[in-house]
Amino acid sequence: MKETVKFAVLADFHQAMFADTAEEKLDQFIEAVNSDKEIEFVVDLGDFAFPLPANNIPIENSKPLIDKFNSAFNVPLYHVLGNHECDYFTKKESLEFHGFNTEETYYSFDAEPFHFVVLDANFMKLPEGYVAYENRNYYKWSYENPPVIPYLPDYELEWLREDLAKAKYPTILFSHQHLADKVFGTGIRNYDELKKIMDESPKGVVMSINGHEHLDFAHKLDGRWFYSLISGTNMMIGSKHPLKGRYTEDYMRSLPCIHMTLPYAKTQYGIFTADKNGVFVKGTEGGFEGPDLYEVGYPDPEYFVPYVKERYFEF
Ligand SMILES: [Fe+2]
Repeated sequence: MKETVKFAVLADFHQAMFADTAEEKLDQFIEAVNSDKEIEFVVDLGDFAFPLPANNIPIENSKPLIDKFNSAFNVPLYHVLGNHECDYFTKKESLEFHGFNTEETYYSFDAEPFHFVVLDANFMKLPEGYVAYENRNYYKWSYENPPVIPYLPDYELEWLREDLAKAKYPTILFSHQHLADKVFGTGIRNYDELKKIMDESPKGVVMSINGHEHLDFAHKLDGRWFYSLISGTNMMIGSKHPLKGRYTEDYMRSLPCIHMTLPYAKTQYGIFTADKNGVFVKGTEGGFEGPDLYEVGYPDPEYFVPYVKERYFEF
């Protein structure tokens, strides 16, 4: 059996927020992957295009870069559905538009010496049952009061139980939203149900890798690592920090969502090497393209970094 596996991961690329430089930003990732012949597969953690109406850019404009991404590698590219892939479509339509090449939004594959599972937490839990995100229907619900989003529905958990029962290797999970978020409050609401299934899996689940947070963050919970990979392009700072003077008026007008972010100077991504003892994520260089967190008065700026911290996740 092969002893190690190396893979590359990109999260929350948000193409439409950086329409004028998105291709250049994507090329940095493509080159990093294609210049490393040891990389066996690539994972897109979702929110690739992010065509919000406020960006004044129709979803169709994202298609050329989506197509370029899908045909850029000589190794498999696995997609995770992000919440923003559900903004203009039903999930079925989204899989087709984004060229996911899968029948389902949750699935698994092997790359020795691990089993990998892609999960889909883009579900609301409403009184009438689980409802899939589609066409921005989830925008009116919140993470709290009541905690309606996001969820792994019971039928997906049942599929996971059966999938893990058959797994020949320990498992690493990929998801868009955090699966055990006790800090930021944007992860799945039903970690306890997931934990039970992971605990009962014969080969075990050793790690989970997510996007969505746009933050470099890791913690170990119940014997497993939970790691948030930062966005490929930006830190979301929200509308409370739209300080004037960060960008030219013309630039702000052309990309109205830009004021909610601090873009990174270089594209950020994770290159992971995993073996039976643990997972190594290579650190990256990076910084903000414009003003940093101190300059915009963001709270606790020392806590957030515009690059991937080098880490070793020992099992
Ligand atoms: Fe997201």
